[in-house]
Amino acid sequence: MRVPLIDLSAQYHKIRTDVDPAVASVLASGRYVMGPDLTEFEKELGRYLGGLHVVGVSSGTDALLAAAMALDVGLGSGKHFGCTRDVEVVTTAYSFFATPETAVRLGARPVFCDIAEDSFNADIDDMLGRVSKKTVAILPVHMFGLQMDVSKLVATGIPVIEDAAQTLQEGIASQSACATLSFFPTKNLGAAGDGGAVVTRSAELADKLGIMRQHGSRPKYVHHLWGGNFRLDPIQAAILRVKLRHLDAWQAQRRQNAQRYRERLADLPLRLPVDHPRHVYHHFVIRTERRDALREYLAARQIDSEVYYPLPLHLQPCFAQLGYKPGSLPRSEAASKEALALPVHPDLSEEQIDFVAESVRGFYRA
Ligand SMILES: Cc1ncc(COP(=O)(O)O)c(C=O)c1O
Repeated sequence: MRVPLIDLSAQYHKIRTDVDPAVASVLASGRYVMGPDLTEFEKELGRYLGGLHVVGVSSGTDALLAAAMALDVGLGSGKHFGCTRDVEVVTTAYSFFATPETAVRLGARPVFCDIAEDSFNADIDDMLGRVSKKTVAILPVHMFGLQMDVSKLVATGIPVIEDAAQTLQEGIASQSACATLSFFPTKNLGAAGDGGAVVTRSAELADKLGIMRQHGSRPKYVHHLWGGNFRLDPIQAAILRVKLRHLDAWQAQRRQNAQRYRERLADLPLRLPVDHPRHVYHHFVIRTERRDALREYLAARQIDSEVYYPLPLHLQPCFAQLGYKPGSLPRSEAASKEALALPVHPDLSEEQIDFVAESVRGFYRA
């Protein structure tokens, strides 16, 4: 039995009777940039998130960039020419590379904190301890589907951008300046290509982002701001509108799959992910010192798994000049050696989950 980490084709076949006409309708409209599907998707997602403003953008990476520019991090949007300011963005050492890349693209220095003892999210006290007079933004990440409490970060008064690429659920951006989302195909809400969004309580910030995603142009060809081409394609918005209707069911199924693993793996000498009722399990990440051997054992049984992430951000070669050394953020470093994501997507059968769990048990028996 093969068990893929994600099965997007299976997902498509279940919803194609709604997806196909939605795509056909955009094609027939002749309107391939902006348009009504984008506007409607933004409204629907805003409602789903409990009443937020949503600005659809071209990717999760561009959502981070646009948000940071709109909040005038580094080069910002419409304030600072050239990298003359010495500014910092405090973020976590454990995330996808796009998170700190946002800072460096704007001429700011990423400052990394370690993760918490019991999850892959930032250690709040360590994060706060790294805030200085140079900090222009704090960038926490809700890792693998587990939302973290950002209230202490917000209390600093420094703009907080939540990277919620892996955790789309109500509660994000409820206190901070904004949160960013990714609709990369494998995300819990995934497009058929790249996509992302910035979500915020602030109508003003949303309006600014709406201008910035079209090069800061308003009125047309007059630029009080600069930004980029950060638009979300309407064809993706049309697909996302269909998928959004299934998101609650899919996230519930992910939770159910996680629960099934928990019951079957509880007595093994490995660490299971935090058991939180609101966890949306973008990934089900276990921890074991025998990670690489387990991964090989599973691969031999045609079970996909993945290492998120094999090298923490502070030790990435391109950040060598920042001066972090092995041992400087020990929890992140240990996590990168021990973390292994097992398939948890909503299209798995119970038999597949049981096969994965039984195979993990077999590894420990061997
Ligand atoms: C935590 C995190 N931030 C940012 C991104 C970037 O999103 P995208 O791939 O849509 O640019 C991702 C997606 O892979 C992510 O997991």
